[in-house]
Amino acid sequence: MWNSVLVKRALPLSFSYLLLVAASLSLDYILHAAGLDWTGRYLGIAGTALVAFSFGYSARKKKLFRNGPLSLFLRLHCNAGWVGTLLILVHSGIHFNAILPWSATALMMVVTASGHVGQYLVRKLREEVRVKKKQLGIQDGNVDGLEQQAYWDAMTVKAFEQWRHMHMPMVSFLVVLTIIHIVSVTFFMNWR
Ligand code: HEM
Ligand code: HEM
Repeated sequence: MWNSVLVKRALPLSFSYLLLVAASLSLDYILHAAGLDWTGRYLGIAGTALVAFSFGYSARKKKLFRNGPLSLFLRLHCNAGWVGTLLILVHSGIHFNAILPWSATALMMVVTASGHVGQYLVRKLREEVRVKKKQLGIQDGNVDGLEQQAYWDAMTVKAFEQWRHMHMPMVSFLVVLTIIHIVSVTFFMNWR
């Protein structure tokens, strides 16, 4: 049972999501215990910067620049998105007053959960491609880079179509809510 596909792929990702919630509660507790809870305000900026940095993956995918392997950028996307979400969660814990930023926080948790599902699909797909290549007796050295890229692209487009259909509108809505929140705190907030 412990060797089953579900356990090997889904369990670490579920653990990663639960760890995210547990880590944010712990960090919030530590900041309060150390009398540093005021830093929560600024963690919103740090977290947003990290999530913005994680969009470097999209830029690399769209070939806005060509340096570095895509897989490395995907790993950076996941890690920066994870830590960014953690910091924004702690930031959100300041108050429970305003509906709009709290809707953004709830949506962010859904987007991050969806990111974990995307990561599950990536791993599943990689494994399927590996098994298929083995069945067909294709070795990495037999297929040139371009062909391999085309094969990957075809597989990726197909498998991610449905997932992206759900994921991308949620990310867009999250960006809109975040921008409204940032604009409103910039205008109405007394930062002192
Ligand atoms: C540059 C980024 C950000 C800045 C400058 C910022 C700034 C602020 C400020 C000044 C407050 C009020 C804190 C206080 O009353 O002491 C606040 C509250 C809050 N922020 Fe942000 N924030 C940012 C990003 C985000 C993001 C990305 C989210 C969620 C996705 C978020 C969710 C919240 C929530 C839930 C609250 C508490 C609202 C309440 O009073 O009920 N913030 N933020
Ligand atoms: C608030 C946090 C996050 C935001 C806003 C976000 C946003 C995005 C966006 C915009 C894309 C589309 C990229 C593109 O095709 O150009 C994407 C894809 C993806 N994200 Fe995230 N993400 C977040 C967190 C995460 C986390 C924590 C993980 C990993 C556990 C993750 C895993 C993925 C995966 C696997 C893809 C698909 C990669 C592909 O299409 O090749 N994301 N995400």
